[in-house]
Amino acid sequence: MAVIAVTKERRTGETRVAAVPETVKKLIGAGFSVVVETGAGAAAAYLDADYEAAGASLATTAKEALAKADILFKVRALEADEIAALKTGTIVVATLNPYMERAALDGLAKAGAIAFAMEFVPRITRAQVMDVLSSQANLAGYRAVIEAAEAYGKAIPMMMTAAGTIAAAKVFIMGVGVAGLQAIATARRLGAVVTATDVRPATKEQVESLGAKFLAVEDEEFKNAQTTGGYAKEMSAEYQAKQAELLTAHIAKQDIVITTALIPGRPAPRLVSAAQVASMKPGSVLVDLAVEQGGNVEGVKLGEVAVTANGAKIMGIPNLPGRVATDASALYARNLFAFAGLFLTKDGAFAPDYEDEILKAALVTQGGAVVHPSLKS
Ligand code: NAI
Repeated sequence: MAVIAVTKERRTGETRVAAVPETVKKLIGAGFSVVVETGAGAAAAYLDADYEAAGASLATTAKEALAKADILFKVRALEADEIAALKTGTIVVATLNPYMERAALDGLAKAGAIAFAMEFVPRITRAQVMDVLSSQANLAGYRAVIEAAEAYGKAIPMMMTAAGTIAAAKVFIMGVGVAGLQAIATARRLGAVVTATDVRPATKEQVESLGAKFLAVEDEEFKNAQTTGGYAKEMSAEYQAKQAELLTAHIAKQDIVITTALIPGRPAPRLVSAAQVASMKPGSVLVDLAVEQGGNVEGVKLGEVAVTANGAKIMGIPNLPGRVATDASALYARNLFAFAGLFLTKDGAFAPDYEDEILKAALVTQGGAVVHPSLKS
């Protein structure tokens, strides 16, 4: 019987956990056995006793858990001590952030791990249930609006009171992927007047269907900005200049700007300049979801709230899903449970088929080397 280890996240501020009692039960039902490091779920409000009740055994250290493991489930890339504790051939499943955390990837290769980066799971129908980018981005988009509302010194909805009327906040969402769509929906629920922009034409209808207004430079380049994988291409300098020109007047009128723009494997595009931030009213709030990929807003600082001379706040909150840790963990854990199903044959025997399209796409290290085509140096 293959053993899955679930260890405590070591990264500062990482509150999520890669399995929850519900998925432990399902994994055991599917034929795995599960060992959980004590306290692994504590920051996400999942208790050791509940893992035990679900059928997991507990290990007091990560080392102890890994000594028994055929498979390791994690949220984040491994730290050196965890890599050192891996047995050769251990399957590692995590969001490895492979483009940005190369050292950890090389460490996994050297340790002989068979590592899968969940970010590389292809966006095909069969793999939707394993799509960690979507499950986490959705919550990040939600939480970004909550954080902005908290930092904003005014109310979001329009209110008509005896003492006068409060105007609805104007919220602008830049980048309308999974996170942006949820940010639009959340801001609308709070009563904001919402506008949004993206470079992919498909987003226009999605924005409008959520009751927000779409704004973009809709030229030839825009019409071709979506890759076959559904992602955005890096736009030309000319397009970016046109985009900036269109958006400058708009940004100056906004109360809250939430940016979510990413391009896989590239630094995040710069969407808001310091001059645009400077044009905003005092008390305006910007939340930059791309801060961990370099940021969409000029002047954003990771883990800080930068207050500009004109009194705008640029929030560079890392790991927004970690601020909704219970739900983020539950969804992530379900993604991993579905992924683990690929390690089993139809009869439930543990025998990963490395030729499976999804496993092939997500495999990053095997046989002592980094094997993913986009990561080979
Ligand atoms: P992402 O996280 O890679 O990027 C966020 C958004 O930023 C994207 O909408 C992108 O077009 C936009 N962006 C990039 N450069 C920009 C710029 N210069 N200005 C403005 N916006 C810019 O995207 P995410 O959330 O991963 O979604 C990408 C696509 O994948 C979407 O079409 C989404 O609907 C699709 N998708 C498909 C799934 C499936 O078929 N299983 C599952 C989830 C998402």
